[in-house]
Amino acid sequence: MNKIILGILGLLLIVLYVTSTIGSDPVTHQSTLDPKGPIAQMQLDLFMVTVWLTLGLFIAVGGALLYAVFKFREKPGDEDKPLPEQGHGNPLTEIGLIGGSVFLLVFIAVPTVKGIWLTHELPVDQPYYEPSKLGTWFKGDISEGEEDKVLEVNVYGWQWWFSFEYPQLGITTGNELVIPKGKVVKLNLRSVDVIHSFWLPKIAGKVDLMPGRTNWMWILADEPGHYYGQCAEYCGEAHAYMLFRSDVMETEDFEAWVSKTLKGSAAPNGFTAPSTEGTPTLKDNWAAWSKASRENPESVINNSVARGAQLFMGSAQCIVCHAVDNSPAAGNRGPNLTQVAFRKSLAAGILDNQGDVPGEVDDPKQLDNLYNWVSKSQLYKPGNLMYFTDAGLINQKMAGITYGELTALSISDDLLLDVGFTPEQLTAMKAETDGDISQYADTTFVMKRLIAQIGRKSTVTYSDLASVGIEDRSILAKGFSAEDLQDMKSNAQDSLKGYGTSRQYKQLKALYQDEVLAGISNWPSDKDFWDIAHYLQTLN
Ligand code: CUA
Repeated sequence: MNKIILGILGLLLIVLYVTSTIGSDPVTHQSTLDPKGPIAQMQLDLFMVTVWLTLGLFIAVGGALLYAVFKFREKPGDEDKPLPEQGHGNPLTEIGLIGGSVFLLVFIAVPTVKGIWLTHELPVDQPYYEPSKLGTWFKGDISEGEEDKVLEVNVYGWQWWFSFEYPQLGITTGNELVIPKGKVVKLNLRSVDVIHSFWLPKIAGKVDLMPGRTNWMWILADEPGHYYGQCAEYCGEAHAYMLFRSDVMETEDFEAWVSKTLKGSAAPNGFTAPSTEGTPTLKDNWAAWSKASRENPESVINNSVARGAQLFMGSAQCIVCHAVDNSPAAGNRGPNLTQVAFRKSLAAGILDNQGDVPGEVDDPKQLDNLYNWVSKSQLYKPGNLMYFTDAGLINQKMAGITYGELTALSISDDLLLDVGFTPEQLTAMKAETDGDISQYADTTFVMKRLIAQIGRKSTVTYSDLASVGIEDRSILAKGFSAEDLQDMKSNAQDSLKGYGTSRQYKQLKALYQDEVLAGISNWPSDKDFWDIAHYLQTLN
């Protein structure tokens, strides 16, 4: 009995210790115990009311139990005595307990209802908050008739990322919600596919993003800073990786952000359209650049950034899903990338862009992360749709492979039969060895099984990587140190398995396999991905 009591006391101490440390730890980016706005504050207050109340209940009920256990326990010599008098059915006790429970429920209901009231009414013209009408504080251009309205952001949930659209300002951004400090912002919450949930723990949440229905909430942040958010409703394979960030800025900084974002992006390397009349706009420059890159590539495709832009707008097909304002890229299936290099995270908040100063972009880290993300996104965010929708890059992996090239890589006829080609299809491929073999595949599944076999090795070495042209910078970008790299080079024939984590080794294997595939299909080469990363880094 004593052990049980000691155990309960120990557990209570652990719970108290853990709860007392959570709010004070600066590394818990998603702590609801560290509120930075009235909604989060109200939610914390409500939470604490129930915590103290239930703690009181716990002590009262637990104390009564302990008292009864000790007072009425069987003592030596009690064996033959009858049961003590039983006290149930006492009307005073029972009515007292019912009355007490009702009182406690009412006690919790009062702040709960007040909280619902607070979240449910947009606080315009209330003295507690600064006037939040757009026209009273925003100095930039706003559309007609919007002056009297509160700043609105349309939040869309996608599998598995967030888009933020500012209809009054004409801005669309991805995965980073930028808002001014101390101003009421109205969020219209929608989903493009399944149910998601918007949750920014230190500021407000959670409200579901539902298909076919618009929910709304208002938020207000008291302190400038970089905040961490999360989808809080299970929404499929990459749900755990559906994060977002929020930048809360001083009013002037917010206005600067708006005008910077509205400017859009310039053509690569500052290319300017030959002016016919007046100053060409950024759109004109882009149009002229696109024309020149088609008609006279040597004149503009002269460095890594320009090559990356050409790949992005062309053969790598990024523009099927992504938009870059002013440029020919106008896809809307993936995040708008206009300011991607100005954002403090990549890949829906998974990869940091931060350096020593929290919230500041770290350029070398960003370049590595951009390269890692675009070239091997499945290894960072399993299940993401970048390569797997019909428009996605999976088609690039499957297109352009010929029977002749497979033979050169020692892919046998048996293996082709094994992945699902029929003997007749095999005969047809052999009759035309330089034809695209995907035309013979009955389903894309057959092609996917085939490409999973290309370049597959049980173990990879440094010389394998070098033999397909993988550069050292690609190895370093995976997080290996310069010493590791030196060691890999001096033992070039040895398996790379001993270096780094198993996850890092997996990345090196994928690097080799993808490069072999890039040699025979339309999949971009490792160098192409570096170029794309260089181009993306100019979007700031
Ligand atoms: Cu979106 Cu979970």
